[in-house]
Formats: sequence, C-alpha cells, structure tokens
Amino acid sequence: MEVAVFSSKSYDECYLTEANQVYQHELQFYSAHLNPDTVSLAAGASIVCCFVNDCLNAQVLSALAAQGIKFIALRSAGYNHVDLDAAKALGIKVASVPAYSPYAVAEHAVGLVLVLNRKIHRAHTRVREGDFSLHGLLGFDLHGKTVGVIGTGKIGSVFARIMQGFGCHLLGYDIVENAECLQLGMQYVELDELLKQSDILSLHCPLTPETFHLIDVQALAKTKPGVMIINTSRGKIIDTVAAIDALKRQHIGYLGLDVYEEEADLFFEDLSDQIIQDDVFARLQTFPNVLITSHQAFFTKEAVRNIAATTLANINAFATGQGELHLVG
Ligand code: NAI
Repeated sequence: MEVAVFSSKSYDECYLTEANQVYQHELQFYSAHLNPDTVSLAAGASIVCCFVNDCLNAQVLSALAAQGIKFIALRSAGYNHVDLDAAKALGIKVASVPAYSPYAVAEHAVGLVLVLNRKIHRAHTRVREGDFSLHGLLGFDLHGKTVGVIGTGKIGSVFARIMQGFGCHLLGYDIVENAECLQLGMQYVELDELLKQSDILSLHCPLTPETFHLIDVQALAKTKPGVMIINTSRGKIIDTVAAIDALKRQHIGYLGLDVYEEEADLFFEDLSDQIIQDDVFARLQTFPNVLITSHQAFFTKEAVRNIAATTLANINAFATGQGELHLVG
C-alpha cells in the first residue's frame, strides 16, 4: 500500500526503509509536518504515517478522509495530538507504537537530573574556555533524596528503578498502582503529598484533559523551595508561564525539559539562523538552572528501530488484516 510519511527526517527514512524490507509497502517521505497546508501531499496514498507534532485535528482528518485515507500509523506512543472522536466519526483507524523503549526516555530523564544537579553543561563550556573555577557548580547528593514520580507506567517505573539505585526514596502518584514500583519500595500518595515531599519531581503521565497544566500555580505553591522538576512527558502538563514565575522567585531550583508547550513550531528543526518569535521559550532559555532538550528522550538506536518495526507491522496488519494492530481510541 502507498504510505505518506510526514515529518520525515533522515533517520526515519533509514529505519522505516529497513523495517519495510519484509513488507515492501510504497513509502513516500515528506519532511513537512502534516497540517491544513500540506494535507494534499497525501493524495494518492491510502495510509498516512505521522509523528508527535503533526496536526491531526478535525479539519485535517476531514481532508484526509476526503482523499480516501482510512488509516493513520503514528510513530509515537502518545496520541494526544489526534482528535480521536473526529477520526472515529470519519471512519479513520489510528494506531500507535505503545512501547518501544521505556529505557530511552527514562535514561534521558535521569540524564537531565544529573546534568542539572552537577551543572555538567555549564562545567563543559567553562573548561573549554580555560575557566577551571568551581564557583556556582555546587551540586547535591542524590542519595537520600525524595523523588516523586507522576505516572508510574512503563517509563515512570524504569525511571523509579534507576533513581532507587542512587539511594533515593520513591513516592508515586498514579490512577493505577504499578506492582513493579511497589516492589521497589515506592510509596503511593496523593498528588498534594507528593508535591509537598519531593526534592525531585519527574513527569511520566500522558497528556489528557486531567493532566493538562497539572503543574500550575497552585501545584507549584505546594512544592518544596528549590525543587527540581523534570518533564520528558508532554509540554502541556506544565503551565510554562507559572513555571517561569516560580523560577524568577527562585522557588523552582532546577527545571529539565525535553518537551515544551508550544514545541511544534520549534523542535526537530534547525532554526539557528532565525529569530525565535516565542517569547516564553526565549525567557526560559535565560535561566542558568533550566536545561532544555528538543524532544530527544526517545532518540536511541534501539528505540528508533523498534518504532520503525512496530509502525510497519501496524501498517501491514491494517493492509492485510493479519497480525497485531495497536489501535488507539
Ligand atoms: P504508560 O501508559 O505505560 O504510563 C503512563 C502512566 O500514567 C500510567 O500508569 C497511567 O495510569 C498514568 N496516568 C494516566 N493518567 C494519569 C493521571 N491523570 N494522573 C496520574 N497518572 C496518570 O506510558 P509510558 O510509555 O510510560 O509513557 C508515558 C508518557 O511519556 C507518554 O504518554 C508520552 O507522553 C511520554 N513520552 C515521551 C517521549 C519523549 O521522547 N519525550 C517518548 C515516549 C513517551
């Protein structure tokens, strides 16, 4: 079947082509995001393949349906960017990649904790410039600190296990308790209690109407002064303006972000020759205790290979009616 692959980068093309060798579907790669202006690129295809910052709202889905698209293969675990009600009404099926490497994302979250705490990013720049002083680089022992994990599913539980290895106490908040986390000694508490007690907060829940701006002014007011907050989940779980205010008041001590509320206009692109128009993002970048990566937590060889394999398996299952199809919605 012909598949229009949107938001395609060289690594997508490489790994999807490799995974397609056994199936031989016809893959058309487009670097453009899917949106109302680019939707016509899918004309002639039966399936579209999308990533996290493609626009899959009712307008785009209607245009896809009018072009005969019946299936959307997401190359992501999260599907908060898809209007699933509209897709259902239009008869479009949507599949995602439910698990590809919880280790990739959890290890990146731990990386943000370590770099922020020990200011390794700043130390690297300083040493390269011949400044071997240590002022401003004082960190803290992770051993004995309390780590609050919000969302203790596949990624949250791997993150918890690594942090337990550092000798941290684990608190968890989730709508479902995970037996693996309980075995690690995690104590499940109400959100308020977790916010109150945690030295480090790490977000691993999906973006849903319930988790939108879960970390807002009120939630931040309950956190410890100097708290470290890590978000590798979805940008809109944190109210960025509230976080900036808390950073200015020196209430948030460290902020590590792999995702950002308005990342769709920025992340995954080389904008180094352009003027960034997003003033909120620009303000975030001025803080020495904020570390931002461009939605790269998933980006390991193992994860990208698994994403490609499951995406092609989903496409093939839809095309042939055989094999496992990881439908969402
Ligand atoms: P998962 O489904 O295994 O775990 C999510 C957990 O969040 C579940 O235990 C669920 O019960 C919990 N949860 C759901 N609603 C909640 C609520 N209202 N309050 C508290 N907990 C709630 O998902 P997984 O694989 O661990 O992924 C978590 C998130 O990580 C994804 O939804 C996605 O947004 C993000 N992600 C980010 C990536 C990156 O590259 N930065 C890559 C992959 C995923």
